Amino acid sequence: METVTSLSELRAARAELPEHVGIVPTMGYLHDGHLSLAERARDECASVVATIFVNPTQFAPEEDLDAYPRDLERDLGLLKEVGVDLVWMPALKGMYPDEFQTWVTVDDLTQVLEGTSRPTHFRGVTTVVAKLFNGVQPQKAYFGQKDAQQAVVIQRMVKDLDFPIEIVVCPIVREADGLAMSSRNTYLNPEQRQAATVLYRSLSAAKAAFEAGERQAEKLRAVVAEMVDAEPLAQLEYISCAHPETLRELQGAVERALLSMAVRVGKTRLIDNLEVGR
Ligand code: PAJ
Repeated sequence: METVTSLSELRAARAELPEHVGIVPTMGYLHDGHLSLAERARDECASVVATIFVNPTQFAPEEDLDAYPRDLERDLGLLKEVGVDLVWMPALKGMYPDEFQTWVTVDDLTQVLEGTSRPTHFRGVTTVVAKLFNGVQPQKAYFGQKDAQQAVVIQRMVKDLDFPIEIVVCPIVREADGLAMSSRNTYLNPEQRQAATVLYRSLSAAKAAFEAGERQAEKLRAVVAEMVDAEPLAQLEYISCAHPETLRELQGAVERALLSMAVRVGKTRLIDNLEVGR
């Protein structure tokens, strides 16, 4: 496994890789969720490029950029074990030189859900992902359903800007008790970690209600909201029942929906989602 930092090193190493190339973009501090993307890429592509870059432009000033967990040595060991061929770890100034002033923005899809409380987040994501795509020139790119809105936004960007890249969205990898794996779970103390199970528990209750015949979007949102309200350590930021592709909030009877939510447990902001009616 080769590791590179500069764009020129990346391009030279990329030129030697057998086609097709799959990219797995990450911010590091890897867990089994990230590794599931790398494994899928390894199974589907001749070569796999993983990227590790804690992208400052997708964090708001008050967010956890400085505290974001990092362990490069461990990450590289894990990627090597999975069979990744090349790891690109761009330097901050390489990605964003002082004179940087060009952004990729996706309109409506980024105004809802996560965009409501994180208005500049997706502009940072789409800009960095566009740069990662331009650097690596992959045929396939692997993202997690954990960040459902991110996957929808990137699919839109790829279509709108004619990137010749297939986006593969991989299922959420969860802990044994259902908590979606996330680098941010490490912020939780043991009581908070227990309380954090309310995200999956409440989404699962709504899914069970759907499967038992409940079709009203309002009722499905209420099932989740009531369970989160009953958990004293958790504060619900939003619960959405939306169209899985347009992300428009649904009213009345639904056939198929993306239930997605953000919850604060202490200072930690957690997100999760589940599709119903697939
Ligand atoms: P990061 O949070 O490191 O996640 C990298 C990829 O792993 C994303 O596609 C994310 O959806 C996926 N992922 C995270 N947890 C997962 C889980 N439990 N199961 C399955 N997949 C999971 O998302 C980002 O980084 C950044 O926004 C990035 C795309 C790298 C741009 O900076």
